[in-house]
Amino acid sequence: MSEIQNKITTLKNYLETQIIGQEELVKKLLITLLADGHALLEGAPGLAKTKAIKTLATCIEAQFNRIQFTPDLLPSDITGSEIYVAQKGEFTFRQGPVFANLVLADEINRAPAKVQSALLEAMAERQVSVGGKRYSLPQLFMVLATQNPIEHEGTYNLPEAQLDRFLMYIKIDQPEAETEHKILKLVRGEDRHEATAPFAPLSIDDILAARREVQTIHMSDAMEEYMVQLVIATRHPDRYSQELAGKVLFGASPRATIALDKCSKIHAWLSGRDFVTPEDIHAVVFDILRHRIILTFEAQAEGLAADSIIENLLRIVPLP
Ligand SMILES: Nc1ncnc2c1ncn2[C@@H]1O[C@H](COP(=O)(O)OP(=O)(O)O)[C@@H](O)[C@H]1O
Ligand SMILES: [Mg+2]
Repeated sequence: MSEIQNKITTLKNYLETQIIGQEELVKKLLITLLADGHALLEGAPGLAKTKAIKTLATCIEAQFNRIQFTPDLLPSDITGSEIYVAQKGEFTFRQGPVFANLVLADEINRAPAKVQSALLEAMAERQVSVGGKRYSLPQLFMVLATQNPIEHEGTYNLPEAQLDRFLMYIKIDQPEAETEHKILKLVRGEDRHEATAPFAPLSIDDILAARREVQTIHMSDAMEEYMVQLVIATRHPDRYSQELAGKVLFGASPRATIALDKCSKIHAWLSGRDFVTPEDIHAVVFDILRHRIILTFEAQAEGLAADSIIENLLRIVPLP
């Protein structure tokens, strides 16, 4: 293991002591961070979505901002705006909360489309345009958006075409009884202000070094072919199974292939291997594809979800 691999493993272990029973979530947040991507996190209230992201932020020497999305938020509440400075007699740009290394966009589906777009544009372009001028976002820039699947009233679905800008769409479930006990124990300790062992935060340079190292992981031709076939299969599932004919309106874009490539390599690296196996691809494929497959009206009416299409494709597309 390299020095940086050790540091990231320590970070992962620490996060797992703070976010109980969510090893998958922790791993995927780290994959997103190392892939230089953004993540959308969906789960019922109270599942420690906000906590997971805030804890990650405390473990990195980086600037963290939280934006609580509400129906009355304006795009400029995210990007910032030009303000008039009377003493100087001119306008200057005041940065909005998106100017940070880690940005928590909490309950993103509570703000209308215009506001969501302001954030999604900043995510894709890594810059903000205000008053005809462009302002760059920092080199380490990761947005973690959360949404609650239960509330439909007063929420605005994220535009499907823009969901592609999230590297991963992570879904989390309710914990089991054993985990629930451990959470209780942790929170009681916190309430009693019991000090947990402090974590020495990683620097931004550490993260950048890890990002360089993950690029050296080997992806064989056979594995690459498998990945490409999986993505192509989302576009033409009927070629693989008659059962899937008429279910998918749009399949995943090349962004999905690029994401699979990056994330499976990082998964291999986090597992201490220097080459990608099908297991690495399977570990990330749902989070990468589920928001990139648009089902037909017919499929939606049948109550089919993108996850079941992906499950089918994994069964049908031959393993290398
Ligand atoms: N898996 C967990 N590990 C640790 N704490 C948890 C876990 N699940 C819930 N909690 C506790 O529940 C609280 C609510 O979490 P929060 O992050 O506000 O939830 P969400 O943002 O998903 O609604 C947390 O502050 C934490 O104390
Ligand atoms: Mg929350």
